[in-house]
Amino acid sequence: MTDQTVLVAIDIGTTKVCVLIGEVGGRSGGVDVIGIGQAPSDGLRKGVVIDIDRTVQSVAAAVDAAERLSGLKVRSAFVGISGMHVGSQNSRGMIAVSGRQHDVTREDTLRAIEAARAVSIPNTREILHVIPRGYVVDGQEGVRDPIGMSAVRLEVEAHIVTASSSSVTNLTKCVQKAGVEIDELVLTPLATAEVVLTDEERELGVVLCDIGGDTTDVAVFQDGSIRHCATIQMGARSVTSDLGLLLRVTPDVAETLKIKQGTALPLEVDPDEVMQITSIGEEVPRPITRRHMAQIIEARTAELFDHVAREIEAAGATNRLQAGVVLTGGGALLTGIARAARDQLGMAARVMSPTGLGGLTDSIAAPPYSASSGLLIWGAKNWSADEDDVAARSLDGVGGRLSRLFRSLMP
Ligand SMILES: Nc1ncnc2c1ncn2[C@@H]1O[C@H](COP(=O)(O)OP(=O)(O)OP(=O)(O)O)[C@@H](O)[C@H]1O
Ligand SMILES: [Mg+2]
Repeated sequence: MTDQTVLVAIDIGTTKVCVLIGEVGGRSGGVDVIGIGQAPSDGLRKGVVIDIDRTVQSVAAAVDAAERLSGLKVRSAFVGISGMHVGSQNSRGMIAVSGRQHDVTREDTLRAIEAARAVSIPNTREILHVIPRGYVVDGQEGVRDPIGMSAVRLEVEAHIVTASSSSVTNLTKCVQKAGVEIDELVLTPLATAEVVLTDEERELGVVLCDIGGDTTDVAVFQDGSIRHCATIQMGARSVTSDLGLLLRVTPDVAETLKIKQGTALPLEVDPDEVMQITSIGEEVPRPITRRHMAQIIEARTAELFDHVAREIEAAGATNRLQAGVVLTGGGALLTGIARAARDQLGMAARVMSPTGLGGLTDSIAAPPYSASSGLLIWGAKNWSADEDDVAARSLDGVGGRLSRLFRSLMP
C-alpha cells in the first residue's frame, strides 16, 4: 500500500450520472478531486433503473470523461443507492461479553452488531448498512462507546437499512456492465451527510433534504446517527413540468424560465412585473406576470415540503431537530427555497454545497454534487480505517469489501 490511494465515487441520479475520482493523502492531506465526469442520465424513472442499457451508457460516458481528465483507468467505485425501495428498521443485538476480565473489546462490539444484523428480512430484500446507534451495557442504556467497560452482557441498538434485491441487482448490473466493480453500495443520504452536515448538527438533530430531478431524499439525523430516511417521488423536475403544463411551454422553455426567473416566494415579486412567453403552437409571445409563475412554483414546493413534514413526523422527531433543515441537490438552487422551507416547516433552513474536498472542486462546489462528493469522502473515511474498522466494515453492507479499495484503479 502506498501513501496515496485513489478512490472513485459514482452517483447515478435521475438527471445526471456524476463520477468523481479522488486522491487520498495527496497534496492537501485530505481528499483531492483529480477526475470529474458527468453525463445525462436517461435510464431511471422515479429513482430506479428501468432501462439497463441506457443507464450503462450514461455511467460509461461519465466514467470515460473522468478517466480522460485524470489520465487514470477506473476499476471500482463507491456507488450511491436510494429510492422508494429503501427501508429501515431498528434492531437489537445481544451477546455475552467474552474474555476473563469481562472488559468489552472491539471484537465484542462487532459480534453484537453481527447479532443485530440477524433480523429476519424478506428474501426479496437485502441489508445495505447496519448502523450502531448506541449500546446497552448490563442493562444500562445510552452508552456511546462501551469499549473498555466491564460487563457481562452487551447489547447494541442498531439501525438497519435494507433495499430491494432487484433494485440492488439492477444497479449493480449497470455499473458492472460499464466496466466498473463495486467497492460498496452506500445509501446516498448517508454519504451526502458527510459533506453537508457537521457532527454537531447530527448530534442536535437535523433533516437533510436532497432535492434532485425526479426524487427528493429525506434523512433525519439525531444523537449523531441516522434515524429515518425516505425518498419522495417529487423533485425539481416536477416544478418544471408544472410550469410546462400550466403555461403551455416546452420542457426546455419551462426549465429556463424556472432557473432564470423562478422563485418559490410569489409575495416577494412585484405584482406588475410582466414576462413574455411563447406557448406551444403560438407564434406571438404573450404576457404573464412573474408572480403568476412564482405561484405555480410555490404550489409544488409547498406540496414537496408537506411530504418532508410527514417524513419528519414519521421519524418521531418533530420539535426536536434543533439544527433545522439542510437543503441540497440541484433543486436547492431554486430562488427562495430556504425561506419557503423555513416558513412551512417552522424550522431553520439553509442551502448547502459540499465541503471538505480539495483539488478540482471549482465545478463541483455546488448542491447538485453533494451526493458524489459525499461518496468520495465516505470512501476515504473507510479507506483510512485501521484493521479493526476493516473488520467492522466487512459486517457493514453489501460488498463491504475493503480489499478491493487497494485496487480501485488499474495500474
Ligand atoms: N438554478 C436552479 N434553480 C432551480 N432548479 C435548478 C437550478 N439548477 C438546477 N436545478 C434543478 O436541479 C435538478 C437536478 O438536480 P440534481 O442534479 O441534484 O438531480 P439528480 O441527482 O440527477 O437527481 P436525483 O437526486 O433525483 O436522482 C434539475 O431538475 C434542475 O431543474
Ligand atoms: Mg441526486
